[in-house]
Amino acid sequence: MAHTQTLEKPEADSETPDPEISIRHLTKRFGAQTVLEDITCDIPKGKITLMLGPSGTGKSVFLKNIMGLLKPEEGEIWIGDKNVPALPHRELYEVRRKFGVLFQDGALFGSMSVYDNTAFPLREHTKKGEREIKDIVMEKLEMVGLVGAESKLPGEISGGMKKRAGLARALVLDPEIIMFDEPDSGLDPVRTAFLNELILDLNRKLGSTMLVVTHDIATARRVADYIGMLYLRGLVKFGTKEEMFDSDIAVVRQFLAGATDGPIGMSEEADQGRQPQARSSYGMTAEETESMEREAGASDDREAARNEEDRGRGDGSRKWGRGNGSRIWGREARESEGPPDGDGDSEPSRTAEEVPLDQMLEEEEG
Ligand SMILES: Nc1ncnc2c1ncn2[C@@H]1O[C@H](COP(=O)(O)OP(=O)(O)O)[C@@H](O)[C@H]1O
Ligand SMILES: [Mg+2]
Repeated sequence: MAHTQTLEKPEADSETPDPEISIRHLTKRFGAQTVLEDITCDIPKGKITLMLGPSGTGKSVFLKNIMGLLKPEEGEIWIGDKNVPALPHRELYEVRRKFGVLFQDGALFGSMSVYDNTAFPLREHTKKGEREIKDIVMEKLEMVGLVGAESKLPGEISGGMKKRAGLARALVLDPEIIMFDEPDSGLDPVRTAFLNELILDLNRKLGSTMLVVTHDIATARRVADYIGMLYLRGLVKFGTKEEMFDSDIAVVRQFLAGATDGPIGMSEEADQGRQPQARSSYGMTAEETESMEREAGASDDREAARNEEDRGRGDGSRKWGRGNGSRIWGREARESEGPPDGDGDSEPSRTAEEVPLDQMLEEEEG
């Protein structure tokens, strides 16, 4: 690769084969607050890499820097021969098309059906006709176990189904890199386990590079090939899953063991390590997926979903953001991250730093 000469030798603890994304000395600040400091690692091609860290450590910020939604104060992020923070908008747009993203709650448009939500990036970013779009949408819905739920609205399906719809949408442009921001957030352990099986299965079938951020140890144990651990602004350690679980670094040990005493505060689920018998729902209909998950003990969370939807309407917030569809990468996505999702991972509303992609392009072209 052309850029390797300009890079220093990997400083990661382990030799990472064939990097898809090379991160060098990444530092991100918001005013006086340093969120990420001097992060260096390689995200290997075709593998599942997990970035673990307690809530508020900067996992979402990390993903946004990689996609070019936030600009770091220092450092480089190489994807192929492109250094993302240094790219002009037009090129940033192209690099961003390599990414599919599953945002924390799926970030679906509440007034659009599952079908239209999934078709959205195709209608927005390609010139494909409706017949071709239909083939692609149905193929992706089948991959995530959602066939038969096309006409449902987000408010009518379970939290697990919403994640799947978000995942189908993340897949429609056949991304090289798929990012998952806390795929397990807001899901019970059963639905999480089934979603994890699907992620593994998709990785095997598609061969895409996957970058998952989470604070859930069960997810790490199940899906990761590589794990990086973020703590107090820094990357404590990055290595293969085995290296990480064998590590004798105190913080890593404590976090991965899910121990409750130690420097880090944990979520309670973390240390149970209990995985229900789960398998991939690849190719299943929504009904089959749902009944499989129920049989394994998943709750009916549609009630909760409806309440959330009502709350969203009531206080004028746009959680399931209708309208203004074109900012899928920007505004809509950020808004969807706002409300707490049961793990205390609420985020401040933000405006200043993140510039919606379309706006940047308009500025550039206008
Ligand atoms: N756009 C922003 N402006 C100011 N502060 C931000 C912004 N985005 C994130 N932060 C802060 O950065 C820290 C890390 O946030 P985040 O990446 O969302 O954590 P998490 O690991 O839970 O995903 C938090 O303290 C958060 O308040
Ligand atoms: Mg986050």
